[in-house]
Amino acid sequence: MHIVAEHLTKSFGRFQATRDVSFEVESGKLVGLLGPSGGGKTTILRMLAGLEEPDSGVIRFDGRIVNQQPPRERGIGFVFQNYALFRHMSVWDNIAFGLTVQKRTKAQIKERVGELIELTGLSGLERRLPHQLSGGQRQRVAFARALAPEPQLLLLDEPFAAIDAKVRKELRTWLKETIARVGITTIFVTHDQEEAVEVADRIMIIHQGRLEQHGTPLDIYKHPQTPFVAGFIGESVQLDDASRLRGFAEDAPASARAIVRPEFLEIGRQAEISHPSAAERGTVASVYFRGTYWQVEVETEAGRLLGHRSLEQPELHPGDEVLVLIHRLYLYNDQGHKTLENRLKFDPLPVHI
Ligand SMILES: Nc1ncnc2c1ncn2[C@@H]1O[C@H](COP(=O)(O)OP(=O)(O)OP(=O)(O)O)[C@@H](O)[C@H]1O
Ligand SMILES: [Mg+2]
Repeated sequence: MHIVAEHLTKSFGRFQATRDVSFEVESGKLVGLLGPSGGGKTTILRMLAGLEEPDSGVIRFDGRIVNQQPPRERGIGFVFQNYALFRHMSVWDNIAFGLTVQKRTKAQIKERVGELIELTGLSGLERRLPHQLSGGQRQRVAFARALAPEPQLLLLDEPFAAIDAKVRKELRTWLKETIARVGITTIFVTHDQEEAVEVADRIMIIHQGRLEQHGTPLDIYKHPQTPFVAGFIGESVQLDDASRLRGFAEDAPASARAIVRPEFLEIGRQAEISHPSAAERGTVASVYFRGTYWQVEVETEAGRLLGHRSLEQPELHPGDEVLVLIHRLYLYNDQGHKTLENRLKFDPLPVHI
Protein backbone atom coordinates (compact mmCIF):
# COMPACT_ATOMS: atom_id res chain seq x y z
CA MET A 1 0.00 0.00 0.00
CA HIS A 2 1.19 3.49 -0.89
CA ILE A 3 1.10 5.90 2.05
CA VAL A 4 0.96 9.69 1.97
CA ALA A 5 0.88 11.98 5.01
CA GLU A 6 0.29 15.68 4.37
CA HIS A 7 0.91 18.37 7.00
CA LEU A 8 0.01 16.21 10.01
CA THR A 9 -0.26 18.17 13.22
CA LYS A 10 -1.27 16.84 16.62
CA SER A 11 -1.36 18.48 20.04
CA PHE A 12 -2.07 17.00 23.45
CA GLY A 13 -3.42 19.96 25.41
CA ARG A 14 -0.97 22.75 24.67
CA PHE A 15 1.87 20.39 23.80
CA GLN A 16 2.54 19.92 20.08
CA ALA A 17 3.58 16.28 19.63
CA THR A 18 3.59 16.43 15.79
CA ARG A 19 4.24 19.57 13.77
CA ASP A 20 3.43 19.76 10.07
CA VAL A 21 4.78 16.33 9.19
CA SER A 22 4.56 15.30 5.51
CA PHE A 23 5.95 12.18 3.89
CA GLU A 24 5.33 9.49 1.34
CA VAL A 25 6.07 5.76 1.61
CA GLU A 26 6.15 3.72 -1.58
CA SER A 27 4.39 0.41 -1.68
CA GLY A 28 6.44 -2.51 -0.37
CA LYS A 29 9.15 -0.37 1.23
CA LEU A 30 10.52 -0.71 4.74
CA VAL A 31 10.84 2.70 6.34
CA GLY A 32 12.52 3.43 9.66
CA LEU A 33 11.19 6.21 11.89
CA LEU A 34 14.15 7.28 13.96
CA GLY A 35 14.57 9.89 16.65
CA PRO A 36 15.07 10.57 20.34
CA SER A 37 12.54 9.65 23.00
CA GLY A 38 9.48 11.90 23.11
CA GLY A 39 10.02 13.12 19.54
CA GLY A 40 6.62 11.99 18.32
CA LYS A 41 7.31 8.65 16.59
CA THR A 42 4.55 6.67 18.30
CA THR A 43 2.11 9.54 17.77
CA ILE A 44 2.74 9.40 14.00
CA LEU A 45 2.14 5.63 13.94
CA ARG A 46 -1.03 5.99 15.99
CA MET A 47 -2.38 8.60 13.56
CA LEU A 48 -1.67 6.30 10.61
CA ALA A 49 -3.45 3.49 12.44
CA GLY A 50 -6.45 5.69 13.27
CA LEU A 51 -5.88 5.39 17.03
CA GLU A 52 -5.23 9.11 17.25
CA GLU A 53 -6.97 11.79 15.18
CA PRO A 54 -4.74 14.50 13.68
CA ASP A 55 -5.76 18.10 14.49
CA SER A 56 -5.06 18.92 10.88
CA GLY A 57 -3.54 17.23 7.86
CA VAL A 58 -4.49 14.39 5.58
CA ILE A 59 -3.59 10.69 5.44
CA ARG A 60 -3.99 8.81 2.14
CA PHE A 61 -3.70 5.08 1.54
CA ASP A 62 -3.40 4.30 -2.17
CA GLY A 63 -4.74 7.77 -2.91
CA ARG A 64 -7.87 7.47 -0.68
CA ILE A 65 -8.21 9.85 2.25
CA VAL A 66 -8.61 7.64 5.35
CA ASN A 67 -8.87 10.30 8.08
CA GLN A 68 -12.46 9.29 8.87
CA GLN A 69 -11.92 5.55 8.53
CA PRO A 70 -12.04 3.57 11.79
CA PRO A 71 -8.85 1.68 12.75
CA ARG A 72 -10.18 -1.81 12.05
CA GLU A 73 -11.08 -0.89 8.46
CA ARG A 74 -7.66 0.51 7.61
CA GLY A 75 -5.99 -2.83 6.89
CA ILE A 76 -3.15 -2.28 9.33
CA GLY A 77 -1.11 -4.71 11.43
CA PHE A 78 0.37 -3.06 14.51
CA VAL A 79 3.07 -4.38 16.85
CA PHE A 80 2.98 -1.93 19.74
CA GLN A 81 5.85 -0.64 21.81
CA ASN A 82 6.29 -3.08 24.77
CA TYR A 83 3.38 -5.05 23.45
CA ALA A 84 2.42 -8.04 25.57
CA LEU A 85 0.89 -11.14 24.05
CA PHE A 86 -2.33 -12.56 25.46
CA ARG A 87 -0.82 -14.30 28.47
CA HIS A 88 -3.26 -17.16 28.80
CA MET A 89 -3.31 -18.00 25.11
CA SER A 90 -0.91 -20.35 23.35
CA VAL A 91 1.34 -19.22 20.51
CA TRP A 92 -1.15 -20.73 18.08
CA ASP A 93 -4.18 -18.94 19.62
CA ASN A 94 -2.34 -15.63 19.82
CA ILE A 95 -1.60 -15.76 16.10
CA ALA A 96 -5.14 -16.92 15.30
CA PHE A 97 -6.76 -14.13 17.33
CA GLY A 98 -7.31 -11.59 14.53
CA LEU A 99 -8.64 -14.26 12.21
CA THR A 100 -11.14 -15.46 14.81
CA VAL A 101 -12.34 -11.88 15.23
CA GLN A 102 -12.78 -11.71 11.44
CA LYS A 103 -14.90 -14.89 11.68
CA ARG A 104 -12.78 -16.86 9.23
CA THR A 105 -13.58 -20.57 8.92
CA LYS A 106 -11.66 -23.13 10.97
CA ALA A 107 -9.95 -24.45 7.85
CA GLN A 108 -8.85 -20.94 6.77
CA ILE A 109 -7.52 -20.19 10.24
CA LYS A 110 -5.61 -23.45 10.36
CA GLU A 111 -3.98 -22.81 7.01
CA ARG A 112 -3.04 -19.19 7.70
CA VAL A 113 -1.67 -19.78 11.21
CA GLY A 114 0.32 -22.76 9.88
CA GLU A 115 1.88 -20.53 7.20
CA LEU A 116 2.83 -17.88 9.73
CA ILE A 117 4.31 -20.37 12.19
CA GLU A 118 6.49 -21.53 9.32
CA LEU A 119 7.37 -18.00 8.19
CA THR A 120 8.36 -16.87 11.67
CA GLY A 121 10.29 -20.03 12.53
CA LEU A 122 8.06 -20.96 15.47
CA SER A 123 7.39 -24.58 14.51
CA GLY A 124 7.25 -26.83 17.55
CA LEU A 125 6.28 -23.97 19.87
CA GLU A 126 2.59 -23.76 18.91
CA ARG A 127 1.26 -24.98 22.28
CA ARG A 128 3.56 -22.90 24.47
CA LEU A 129 2.31 -19.98 26.51
CA PRO A 130 4.07 -16.60 26.21
CA HIS A 131 5.98 -17.02 29.51
CA GLN A 132 7.52 -20.22 28.13
CA LEU A 133 9.17 -18.31 25.25
CA SER A 134 12.33 -16.22 24.96
CA GLY A 135 11.98 -12.48 24.31
CA GLY A 136 12.91 -12.93 20.65
CA GLN A 137 10.36 -15.71 20.19
CA ARG A 138 7.67 -13.58 21.80
CA GLN A 139 8.39 -10.74 19.39
CA ARG A 140 8.09 -13.15 16.49
CA VAL A 141 4.69 -14.26 17.79
CA ALA A 142 3.61 -10.60 18.02
CA PHE A 143 4.84 -10.10 14.45
CA ALA A 144 2.98 -13.20 13.20
CA ARG A 145 -0.18 -12.10 14.99
CA ALA A 146 -0.01 -8.66 13.32
CA LEU A 147 0.52 -10.27 9.90
CA ALA A 148 -2.23 -12.90 10.25
CA PRO A 149 -5.21 -10.90 8.91
CA GLU A 150 -3.09 -9.97 5.83
CA PRO A 151 -2.78 -6.25 6.50
CA GLN A 152 -1.57 -3.96 3.74
CA LEU A 153 0.49 -1.83 6.07
CA LEU A 154 2.54 -3.06 9.00
CA LEU A 155 3.45 -0.67 11.82
CA LEU A 156 6.13 -1.83 14.25
CA ASP A 157 6.81 0.36 17.27
CA GLU A 158 10.24 -0.50 18.67
CA PRO A 159 9.58 -4.22 18.30
CA PHE A 160 12.96 -5.20 19.73
CA ALA A 161 13.29 -2.63 22.52
CA ALA A 162 13.22 -5.19 25.32
CA ILE A 163 15.61 -7.67 23.75
CA ASP A 164 19.33 -8.01 24.41
CA ALA A 165 21.85 -6.74 21.87
CA LYS A 166 22.90 -10.01 20.25
CA VAL A 167 19.41 -11.47 19.72
CA ARG A 168 18.28 -8.05 18.57
CA LYS A 169 20.85 -8.09 15.77
CA GLU A 170 19.69 -11.51 14.61
CA LEU A 171 16.06 -10.44 14.76
CA ARG A 172 16.55 -7.36 12.66
CA THR A 173 18.21 -9.32 9.86
CA TRP A 174 15.36 -11.80 10.13
CA LEU A 175 12.79 -8.99 10.05
CA LYS A 176 14.28 -7.43 6.93
CA GLU A 177 14.33 -10.74 5.08
CA THR A 178 10.84 -11.74 6.21
CA ILE A 179 9.30 -8.40 5.25
CA ALA A 180 10.99 -8.59 1.84
CA ARG A 181 9.50 -12.06 1.37
CA VAL A 182 5.98 -10.95 2.35
CA GLY A 183 6.38 -7.71 0.34
CA ILE A 184 4.34 -5.59 2.77
CA THR A 185 4.75 -1.83 3.24
CA THR A 186 6.24 -1.43 6.71
CA ILE A 187 6.99 1.49 9.02
CA PHE A 188 9.32 0.59 11.80
CA VAL A 189 10.10 2.80 14.82
CA THR A 190 13.41 2.70 16.63
CA HIS A 191 15.67 5.08 18.49
CA ASP A 192 18.68 2.96 17.63
CA GLN A 193 20.44 4.52 14.62
CA GLU A 194 22.39 1.35 13.83
CA GLU A 195 19.15 -0.63 13.68
CA ALA A 196 17.52 1.90 11.36
CA VAL A 197 20.54 2.08 9.06
CA GLU A 198 20.77 -1.71 8.77
CA VAL A 199 17.10 -2.50 8.34
CA ALA A 200 15.43 0.34 6.47
CA ASP A 201 15.20 1.19 2.78
CA ARG A 202 14.56 4.77 3.82
CA ILE A 203 14.79 6.62 7.11
CA MET A 204 12.74 9.48 8.53
CA ILE A 205 14.40 11.42 11.33
CA ILE A 206 11.84 12.75 13.82
CA HIS A 207 12.88 15.41 16.30
CA GLN A 208 10.62 17.53 18.54
CA GLY A 209 7.56 16.64 16.50
CA ARG A 210 9.12 17.55 13.16
CA LEU A 211 10.36 15.47 10.28
CA GLU A 212 13.97 16.68 10.08
CA GLN A 213 15.02 14.60 7.11
CA HIS A 214 13.78 11.76 4.93
CA GLY A 215 16.04 9.73 2.65
CA THR A 216 18.07 6.58 2.18
CA PRO A 217 20.39 5.73 5.08
CA LEU A 218 23.42 6.53 2.93
CA ASP A 219 21.98 9.83 1.73
CA ILE A 220 21.24 10.90 5.31
CA TYR A 221 24.70 9.92 6.46
CA LYS A 222 26.42 11.72 3.57
CA HIS A 223 24.20 14.79 3.36
CA PRO A 224 22.71 15.57 6.77
CA GLN A 225 20.53 18.66 6.29
CA THR A 226 20.60 19.86 9.88
CA PRO A 227 23.17 19.77 12.68
CA PHE A 228 20.76 17.58 14.63
CA VAL A 229 20.69 14.94 11.90
CA ALA A 230 24.47 15.05 11.54
CA GLY A 231 24.77 14.45 15.26
CA PHE A 232 22.18 11.71 15.33
CA ILE A 233 23.37 9.56 12.42
CA GLY A 234 27.02 8.70 12.87
CA GLU A 235 29.50 10.26 15.28
CA SER A 236 30.39 13.93 15.07
CA VAL A 237 31.57 17.04 16.85
CA GLN A 238 30.41 20.58 16.29
CA LEU A 239 32.64 23.64 15.86
CA ASP A 240 31.15 27.09 16.33
CA ASP A 241 33.33 28.97 13.88
CA ALA A 242 34.47 27.14 10.75
CA SER A 243 36.20 30.23 9.34
CA ARG A 244 39.15 29.57 11.69
CA LEU A 245 39.98 26.25 10.08
CA ARG A 246 42.91 26.03 7.68
CA GLY A 247 41.86 24.94 4.22
CA PHE A 248 38.25 26.01 4.83
CA ALA A 249 38.61 29.69 5.83
CA GLU A 250 37.95 30.96 2.29
CA ASP A 251 34.70 29.05 1.93
CA ALA A 252 33.29 29.30 5.43
CA PRO A 253 31.47 32.47 6.55
CA ALA A 254 32.37 33.51 10.10
CA SER A 255 28.93 32.71 11.46
CA ALA A 256 28.77 29.15 10.08
CA ARG A 257 28.71 26.12 12.34
CA ALA A 258 30.67 23.10 11.23
CA ILE A 259 30.07 19.43 11.92
CA VAL A 260 33.04 17.09 11.60
CA ARG A 261 32.93 13.31 11.66
CA PRO A 262 35.83 11.20 12.99
CA GLU A 263 36.08 9.53 9.57
CA PHE A 264 36.95 12.93 8.05
CA LEU A 265 40.08 13.38 10.17
CA GLU A 266 43.68 12.28 10.25
CA ILE A 267 45.31 12.70 13.66
CA GLY A 268 49.01 12.16 14.20
CA ARG A 269 52.53 13.47 14.19
CA GLN A 270 53.73 15.44 11.17
CA ALA A 271 55.23 12.44 9.36
CA GLU A 272 51.97 10.49 9.66
CA ILE A 273 49.74 13.14 8.07
CA SER A 274 49.19 13.06 4.31
CA HIS A 275 49.11 16.88 3.88
CA PRO A 276 50.68 18.45 6.98
CA SER A 277 50.44 21.98 5.57
CA ALA A 278 46.65 21.69 5.43
CA ALA A 279 46.36 20.53 9.04
CA GLU A 280 45.46 22.21 12.33
CA ARG A 281 47.82 22.11 15.26
CA GLY A 282 46.52 20.73 18.52
CA THR A 283 47.13 18.98 21.81
CA VAL A 284 45.80 15.54 22.62
CA ALA A 285 43.17 15.89 25.35
CA SER A 286 42.18 12.25 25.79
CA VAL A 287 42.75 8.81 24.31
CA TYR A 288 40.27 5.93 24.74
CA PHE A 289 40.59 2.33 23.62
CA ARG A 290 37.41 1.45 21.68
CA GLY A 291 38.03 -2.21 20.97
CA THR A 292 39.14 -1.92 17.34
CA TYR A 293 40.61 1.62 17.33
CA TRP A 294 41.76 4.49 19.55
CA GLN A 295 39.36 7.36 20.01
CA VAL A 296 41.43 10.52 20.27
CA GLU A 297 40.24 13.98 21.33
CA VAL A 298 42.39 16.92 20.29
CA GLU A 299 42.13 20.51 21.48
CA THR A 300 42.76 22.95 18.61
CA GLU A 301 42.31 26.71 18.23
CA ALA A 302 39.08 26.11 16.39
CA GLY A 303 37.69 23.80 19.07
CA ARG A 304 37.82 20.23 20.25
CA LEU A 305 37.96 17.55 17.54
CA LEU A 306 37.28 13.84 17.83
CA GLY A 307 38.96 11.28 15.62
CA HIS A 308 39.92 7.63 15.36
CA ARG A 309 43.39 6.21 15.16
CA SER A 310 44.39 2.73 14.09
CA LEU A 311 45.77 0.33 16.71
CA GLU A 312 48.66 -0.27 14.26
CA GLN A 313 49.87 3.33 14.70
CA PRO A 314 52.10 4.39 17.61
CA GLU A 315 50.10 5.19 20.72
CA LEU A 316 49.31 8.83 21.52
CA HIS A 317 49.02 10.26 25.03
CA PRO A 318 47.25 13.27 26.56
CA GLY A 319 49.46 16.33 26.21
CA ASP A 320 51.12 15.20 22.94
CA GLU A 321 51.41 17.89 20.27
CA VAL A 322 49.80 16.62 17.08
CA LEU A 323 48.42 17.71 13.74
CA VAL A 324 44.80 17.19 12.72
CA LEU A 325 43.99 17.17 9.03
CA ILE A 326 40.29 17.79 8.41
CA HIS A 327 39.48 16.41 4.98
CA ARG A 328 35.85 17.42 4.91
CA LEU A 329 33.16 19.10 6.97
CA TYR A 330 29.49 19.92 6.89
CA LEU A 331 28.66 23.58 7.15
CA TYR A 332 25.39 25.03 8.46
CA ASN A 333 24.08 28.58 8.63
CA ASP A 334 20.79 30.44 8.15
CA GLN A 335 21.00 30.04 4.39
CA GLY A 336 21.28 26.26 4.47
CA HIS A 337 23.96 23.63 4.47
CA LYS A 338 26.82 22.35 2.32
CA THR A 339 29.71 19.92 2.37
CA LEU A 340 33.21 21.42 2.04
CA GLU A 341 36.49 19.77 1.15
CA ASN A 342 39.82 21.01 2.52
CA ARG A 343 41.28 23.29 -0.20
CA LEU A 344 44.89 23.15 0.93
CA LYS A 345 44.88 19.39 0.47
CA PHE A 346 44.72 20.01 -3.27
CA ASP A 347 47.52 22.59 -3.22
CA PRO A 348 50.16 21.38 -5.70
CA LEU A 349 53.00 23.12 -3.84
CA PRO A 350 52.37 22.62 -0.14
CA VAL A 351 54.17 25.04 2.14
CA HIS A 352 55.96 22.97 4.77
CA ILE A 353 55.69 24.01 8.38
N1 LIG B 1 -2.01 10.80 25.11
C1 LIG B 1 -1.09 11.74 25.38
N2 LIG B 1 -1.36 12.76 26.20
C2 LIG B 1 -0.44 13.73 26.44
N3 LIG B 1 0.79 13.76 25.90
C3 LIG B 1 1.12 12.76 25.09
C4 LIG B 1 0.21 11.69 24.78
N4 LIG B 1 0.83 10.85 23.92
C5 LIG B 1 2.07 11.35 23.71
N5 LIG B 1 2.24 12.50 24.41
C6 LIG B 1 3.45 13.34 24.40
O1 LIG B 1 3.81 13.59 23.05
C7 LIG B 1 5.20 13.51 22.88
C8 LIG B 1 5.53 12.50 21.80
O2 LIG B 1 5.22 11.22 22.29
P1 LIG B 1 5.50 9.92 21.47
O3 LIG B 1 5.00 8.79 22.27
O4 LIG B 1 4.95 10.08 20.10
O5 LIG B 1 7.10 9.92 21.41
P2 LIG B 1 8.10 8.81 20.86
O6 LIG B 1 8.93 9.47 19.82
O7 LIG B 1 7.33 7.60 20.46
O8 LIG B 1 8.99 8.52 22.14
P3 LIG B 1 9.65 7.14 22.66
O9 LIG B 1 10.87 6.92 21.82
O10 LIG B 1 10.00 7.44 24.09
O11 LIG B 1 8.63 6.05 22.52
C9 LIG B 1 5.78 13.17 24.25
O12 LIG B 1 6.26 14.35 24.84
C10 LIG B 1 4.62 12.61 25.01
O13 LIG B 1 4.74 12.85 26.39
MG1 LIG C 1 7.25 5.69 21.21
